[in-house]
Amino acid sequence: MLKGKKVGLRARHEDDIPILRAELYDDVVNGSRAEGAPWRPITPGSKDPRLVVDDKAEGLVPFSVVELEGGTLVGTANLWGIDNHHRSAHIGLGLLPSTRGKGYGTDVVATLCHYGFVVRGLQRLQIETLADNHAMLRSAERNGFVREGVLRSSAWVLGEFLDQVLLGLLAQEWKPDSQG
Ligand SMILES: CC(C)(COP(=O)(O)OP(=O)(O)OC[C@H]1O[C@@H](n2cnc3c(N)ncnc32)[C@H](O)[C@@H]1OP(=O)(O)O)[C@@H](O)C(=O)NCCC(=O)NCCS
Repeated sequence: MLKGKKVGLRARHEDDIPILRAELYDDVVNGSRAEGAPWRPITPGSKDPRLVVDDKAEGLVPFSVVELEGGTLVGTANLWGIDNHHRSAHIGLGLLPSTRGKGYGTDVVATLCHYGFVVRGLQRLQIETLADNHAMLRSAERNGFVREGVLRSSAWVLGEFLDQVLLGLLAQEWKPDSQG
């Protein structure tokens, strides 16, 4: 398990799946804001890749996020679009609604940076998020990510086009344990 200050990133367990489906992916607003595709229900038992992990997939490493103290599941995190030629990848995360606003998101980003830069030897990590997602923007910026641009009207979300912000962090800029 990868350990941050408050959370751990571990493999997906069978028991996680019904919780993630019910509390994260069944929520139309959360799903519409977090996914690059229209929300649709996930049938129990389906092999949806957001829930069931393919350990052989090259470009995607999904984690379940747990509280370090007690091990309770609090969400998902992943490194996706891993490109071993350009040595870059994207970060994604989603916390269960009841666990948000406790500093876990900031700690998940820090832990994913450790995985990306130290374990995988990547040079660049990138995040795309909706321009009104202040908690995500702040979680990224506290770890040193800088805003590199705005993708105007790039996301269709529940009846309107929203801007997305693109943030990047390079290995040489990253300060482990900063979260300033
Ligand atoms: C985005 C998300 C991962 C952030 O994690 P979190 O644990 O809630 O965030 P933190 O508690 O670490 O807070 C980070 C910062 O955002 C601020 N913040 C938290 N919730 C906020 C809110 N609703 N509005 C404004 N700021 C907020 C915190 O005060 C903190 O700032 P500070 O460090 O200056 O005090 C989490 O809210 C989430 O899962 N949201 C739904 C899914 C999602 O949007 N995923 C990202 C898709 S790209």
